[in-house]
Amino acid sequence: MVKMETAELDTDLSLFKYDNLEQLPPQYRELDEAERTERIEAALEELGDDAVILGHNYQRREIVEHADFVGDSYQLSKEAAEADAEYVIFGGVTFMAESADIITDDDQTVILPSMEASCPMAGMAEALQVDAAWAEITAAAPDSEIIPITYMNSYADLKAFCASQGGLVCTSSNAHEAFEYAFEKGDKVLFLPDKHLGENTAYRLGMEDDIAEWDPWDPEGKDAEEVAESDIVLWDGYCQVHERFREDHIEEIRDEHPDANVVVHPECRREVVEAADVVGSTSTICETVANADPGEKWAIGTEIHLTNHLQRWHPEVEVLPLCGEACMDCNAMRQIDPNYLAWVLEELVEGRERNVIEVAPEEKELAEVALDRMLEI
Ligand code: 13P
Ligand code: SF4
Repeated sequence: MVKMETAELDTDLSLFKYDNLEQLPPQYRELDEAERTERIEAALEELGDDAVILGHNYQRREIVEHADFVGDSYQLSKEAAEADAEYVIFGGVTFMAESADIITDDDQTVILPSMEASCPMAGMAEALQVDAAWAEITAAAPDSEIIPITYMNSYADLKAFCASQGGLVCTSSNAHEAFEYAFEKGDKVLFLPDKHLGENTAYRLGMEDDIAEWDPWDPEGKDAEEVAESDIVLWDGYCQVHERFREDHIEEIRDEHPDANVVVHPECRREVVEAADVVGSTSTICETVANADPGEKWAIGTEIHLTNHLQRWHPEVEVLPLCGEACMDCNAMRQIDPNYLAWVLEELVEGRERNVIEVAPEEKELAEVALDRMLEI
């Protein structure tokens, strides 16, 4: 059992890493869509090549419509790496904006329009906790080389920690390649924070008999010695948006729509992934629907904004939310309100930078190593 005697839990661990970001001024709170769109477009026109907007597939329609590029986490990190603009306005959550800051040049500025866009899953594996657990697990397996892999959905300090221990970052589109990289270098993997993506990846690699789930603070759970017997140790994190999907939902869809296919994100539970026809990152989900023949039916097991975008983008395909009304939006992604976008852009026009995401220099260098290892696999 891990003890955290030195950590001040209230101050050293926090869900919102950037709670110093600024709130929307009152005059921006009541903008109607037509006025806001006009003002966003005018500000973008004024900023020209100095600003680029990157948007994750889960962003609201009003953000996606203004984005220069919309994609999955991996594509967004590549776009950020290639961006020339002085300002990268990030429609996404804090860990994604941090990654953009790490990857872009020092003279580029990353802006996350609104605060509190913090992915709860990223908060489930704080570097401080992982550091304490790492001491236990490495002591429990002194003859093994354990490689830590963190999902992109984690903060920069954890990415830096992984790099410092020979590990790397992965996204949902390359987790299997990250595991292969790790098993070439070492003999065990500690995967953080998403246990479902970890388990689904282990199955994909035929390593399903080598998994142990680990919550180092669970008094009823396995201890470090027990989990260290397995080759793949999965941190006990998860995404509540994706955990909501159950195998029953797929059965119900297949009963009601016998001709429907099902595509789900690998953050879903194992049994959901097994029952689906296609599994993949948000860009795989987009491609699957884009490549469908007119009249095909696809049920989508991921965040509801993306399902709604797919209905708009591909009216010739019948796009169904996998669990109907019960499908969730991502509360973190939703924090990027278009009024905030209007505000940060107009402030930039006036020469003021608002809500800048800046990773601490001591974390930046190592976190970049972890991201570069991913970009190279
Ligand atoms: P993608 O990398 O597939 O875009 O997923 C990111 C994410 O947060 C899913 O919940
Ligand atoms: Fe995090 Fe889940 Fe939202 Fe993705 S959908 S950003 S994993 S909370």
